[in-house]
Amino acid sequence: MTGTDQPLIRLTGVGKSHGAVIALRDVDLEASAGEVTCVLGDNGAGKSTLIKIVAGLHRHDTGTYEVQGEKVEFGSPREALDRGIATVYQDLAVVPLMPVWRNFFLGSEKRRRFGRLDIVSMRETARREMAAMGVDLRDVDQPIGTLSGGERQCVAIARAVHFGARALVLDEPTAALGVKQAGVVLRYIVRARERGLAVVFITHNPHHAYPVGDRFLILNRGRSIGDHNKDEITREELTALMAGGGELEELARELDVAGD
Ligand SMILES: Nc1ncnc2c1ncn2[C@@H]1O[C@H](COP(=O)(O)OP(=O)(O)O)[C@@H](O)[C@H]1O
Ligand SMILES: [Mg+2]
Repeated sequence: MTGTDQPLIRLTGVGKSHGAVIALRDVDLEASAGEVTCVLGDNGAGKSTLIKIVAGLHRHDTGTYEVQGEKVEFGSPREALDRGIATVYQDLAVVPLMPVWRNFFLGSEKRRRFGRLDIVSMRETARREMAAMGVDLRDVDQPIGTLSGGERQCVAIARAVHFGARALVLDEPTAALGVKQAGVVLRYIVRARERGLAVVFITHNPHHAYPVGDRFLILNRGRSIGDHNKDEITREELTALMAGGGELEELARELDVAGD
């Protein structure tokens, strides 16, 4: 898809301060087409800061950001989007009472002559794109507010894919969801990878990351404490790294047993 061996996204030695707070220090991140890169870390680890840099919302203070080997300095999320990098935030901007198809095209409506909305085409496209992601919506006219949290995330993912995203950045898409709904979103993540997107999946839950991830970057207080391909790390090791070792490692093991 990229036509090169370069990763779609590559951050090298990236650092970022918020005033006196060093949110990120010397962090590397790579995301390639057809792969899921997971970014893990506890609250305050710097995950959102990292993702906002990728998304074009924050400028990094140090290090480099490359897209397909070309150095970039995004001034806005729009610029990142123009390079195919789409970000889906946890608190999705949707209009609950509007139909699914309307939300799908919000801000990018298809129009016919004389500026009239092309409702027929938008409905059909929304339905088709959702089906391609594995969601068979009975009715794209239903208000998006009637969908489950997982399905709403999927609308956002299908939308990004439809509008040409090559990289999909998901900031804690499963955090607010129950087990079943989280499973729904994880399936869409796999589907997006199968469609050749580079997925960056942010989570603090190793049990969500491990089954779908190809590589794992673990952050702790703004620093990388691990960067592993899946074949280099077990779920238990990932959980232990996340928890920070010691007593917490014990706890994580208990929780792992309880969680299975
Ligand atoms: N806008 C901001 N102003 C000041 N400090 C911030 C800001 N955003 C994040 N931080 C700080 O940077 C650190 C990393 O935060 P964040 O990237 O949100 O972590 P995470 O998403 O992993 O919870 C935290 O100490 C946080 O308090
Ligand atoms: Mg965060």
